[in-house]
Amino acid sequence: MDVMVVGSGGREHALIRALTNSPQVEKIYALPGNGGIAELAECVSISATDFEAIESFALDQGIGFVVVAPDDPLVMGLVDRLEAAGIPCFGPNQKAALIEGSKSFAKDLMHRHNIPTAASRVFSDESAALEYLEGRERFPVVIKADGLALGKGVVIANDRAEATEAVHSMMSGGKFGASGRTVVVEEFLEGPEVSLLAFTDGTTVVPMVSAMDHKRAFDADAGPNTGGMGVVAPNPYYTDAIAAKVQKTILEPTVRAMASEGRPFRGCLYFGLMLTDAGPQVIEYNCRFGDPEAQAVLPLLKSDLFEVMVACRQGTLDQTPVEFSAETCCCVVMASGGYPLDYQVGQAITIDALPENVTLYHAGTRLGPGGLETSGGRVLGVSATAPTLAEAVATAYRGVDQIDFSESHYRSDIGRSALGALSE
Ligand code: AMP
Ligand code: GLY
Repeated sequence: MDVMVVGSGGREHALIRALTNSPQVEKIYALPGNGGIAELAECVSISATDFEAIESFALDQGIGFVVVAPDDPLVMGLVDRLEAAGIPCFGPNQKAALIEGSKSFAKDLMHRHNIPTAASRVFSDESAALEYLEGRERFPVVIKADGLALGKGVVIANDRAEATEAVHSMMSGGKFGASGRTVVVEEFLEGPEVSLLAFTDGTTVVPMVSAMDHKRAFDADAGPNTGGMGVVAPNPYYTDAIAAKVQKTILEPTVRAMASEGRPFRGCLYFGLMLTDAGPQVIEYNCRFGDPEAQAVLPLLKSDLFEVMVACRQGTLDQTPVEFSAETCCCVVMASGGYPLDYQVGQAITIDALPENVTLYHAGTRLGPGGLETSGGRVLGVSATAPTLAEAVATAYRGVDQIDFSESHYRSDIGRSALGALSE
């Protein structure tokens, strides 16, 4: 069967690499893909949000299955459109994707169904939000833009002045556009964070190996939030006991809640969790694989990804094996200097011989006239698998040493906190 993957980042590269292992997948098209994906798939320069062009391309090529990977097209309803045209897809429809598309919807869903999460209030009137902050004693407080904001719509405000400024810039200052006109004001939680991806067919929910993202730009969690600078999997804080509790108090209740409200979720549901003293709580849901979580979790998947994806669509996940290797994986992201703010593109990339067990996932790369060059903020994910996390981390960094482009930037402490937890 010919398969099409919509998207262009490291996550899509990891999905495509995993799909190439399936005997049922003949040819893969990536829309639009990137410089590294081009080695595995035919890249077609159609944007992930050009629904008209995507639908005609899929119909013309006789595509048998489509994987929609990024949040934008999912929240905008690409799956609904392709399914209506008779093309089977992996990914939630628009009604289900609202779990990421609107944080106020997600918070209300959790409150309605007693799913553990930080207490919160939703405001669509700025003066009401400011009045609430005026009367509030406890800080920090977390201010979140309701809609999609490229992972940048969350402000941890340390005092009233910062909170007021965040609310003002989102609600009337136009920061994040329509996404920020409604805000969620949420209690500040503390504890180790866990990214948990799960396959679900709307009824059955099967978690993947847990992961730990590193969201801040610089070492020791300093600097601005990014899309993610590196991941280790599994996450050592996420013990079997915690996993069993999360399955019963968060995963199953969320999937049941969505189905009971007429929004059955089929696809990959991402649970952003915080392990607080009061137990695991949900910080956010995403309606898709995480990036770079996918680059550390999918290399550990032993089962046939294509089969699992088809089972998620058909409602047969309970009869489909989803197995992971007992190894570990570390993915270090190499970014353009300046990311997540301003950065330059078009820098030539050189890659020397990589250590065994290292796989490169391209994010912002393209094939220029002189060869491979940078084309985005996050450029490459360097993933290493190994029996122990210490080896995976060391091997990933040996891979990083073999790669060069002008002003490259990466964190040198990916996995450090995880290794610390293991030695406790
Ligand atoms: P999100 O975009 O919702 O993933 O939020 C980005 C980051 O903000 C999360 O990974 C957390 O580190 C932090 N964050 C979000 N909500 C909270 C909260 N209620 N308490 C503390 N930190 C939070
Ligand atoms: N790495 C976080 C995300 O994909 O949202």
